[in-house]
Amino acid sequence: MTSLFVRACERQEVERTPVWFMRQAGRYQPEYRQLRKRLSLLDICERPDVCTEVTLLPVRQLEVDAAILFSDITVPLRAIGIGLDIVENVGPVVAEPLRSAEDLGRLRTLVPEEDEPYVAAAVRQLVGELGPVPLIGFAGGPFTLASYLVEGGPSRNYRRLKGLMWQDPSLFHALMERLADLTEGHLAAQANAGAAALQIFDSWIGCLSPADYRRHVLPVMQDLFGRLKALRVPTIYFGVETAGLLEAMAGAGADVIGVDWRVSIGDAAARIGHELAIQGNLDPALLLAPSDETAQAAKAILRAMSGRRGHIFNLGHGVLPETPPDALRRLVEIVRQESLDA
Ligand code: CP3
Repeated sequence: MTSLFVRACERQEVERTPVWFMRQAGRYQPEYRQLRKRLSLLDICERPDVCTEVTLLPVRQLEVDAAILFSDITVPLRAIGIGLDIVENVGPVVAEPLRSAEDLGRLRTLVPEEDEPYVAAAVRQLVGELGPVPLIGFAGGPFTLASYLVEGGPSRNYRRLKGLMWQDPSLFHALMERLADLTEGHLAAQANAGAAALQIFDSWIGCLSPADYRRHVLPVMQDLFGRLKALRVPTIYFGVETAGLLEAMAGAGADVIGVDWRVSIGDAAARIGHELAIQGNLDPALLLAPSDETAQAAKAILRAMSGRRGHIFNLGHGVLPETPPDALRRLVEIVRQESLDA
């Protein structure tokens, strides 16, 4: 029997709204913080046993409808030898940023079986242990990966990346194509090992104007999602602050569009159209608010989506480290009750 989550991705009729959370495994959990005292984030990603344990934690504690592989968008970049560290409270920092045509040579082809065998190993182990709960595999979008590679780390206004995009569009395009190949290889390894769906985190595309997104990013995404169809699992395309880009993103070829909270889900759904499913979009900060506020906001999202096929409840971005685990548990319960009653 196909899972509730996958059926919602495919816009089939479902008995209630499935729910999971981006960053459902992480620092808000005391067990995770404990583990991180002896292992780095990347150590966890590279050890299938530990990765499995961390991925399963929220599934057991929250009873969400999907698991997401514990990993990071930077994992395949490290796997091909890019010098990169994840700095606490900062994010990914690249030792030698990519800025020239010669630098592109450092982005060699990913051979998942050799470069990152631990990824497929963790997926296989998880699929065995999860039983009926589907596992989501993921990767970073080419633009979002390029932002770290070109800027050298997190950025406020992406001056260097946009500079490259406008000054040397063909070099920018070549960079995007190499990263699309990397993303495809990394996602294929996860799907072939048993992942039930794939999400592309293109977190930072919202920094682009609709015109630049359509010209410089969308064609690469259309090609990428086209190639992913061969894997025969639903695909989810997510970005932050994408209210200006939704119509364009809807044409990328994904099955589901993930939206943040800066757009009302009703508007977003109308603009995406009825051919695609939608995922979102509670403000993660609402989990720190009085529980009645959280409940009201969650119910408003469900009301706005009642009658629409293909809604997956989620936050608009990842769980914040300060989130009380109980607030997430209560939220799952509310989504379950309310959508059953609807
Ligand atoms: O959702 C899940 O439970 C899977 C785990 C997951 C991680 N990274 C683990 C992680 C996922 C889906 C990601 C994706 C990711 N990584 C994105 C896209 C999603 C988004 O948040 O927009 C991005 C941009 C990254 C890059 C990255 N890695 C950032 C910006 C940070 C935060 C740095 C910080 O300290 O605040 C990381 C580190 C990271 N990746 C953590 C986790 C749980 C932080 C906790 C830790 O260091 O142990």
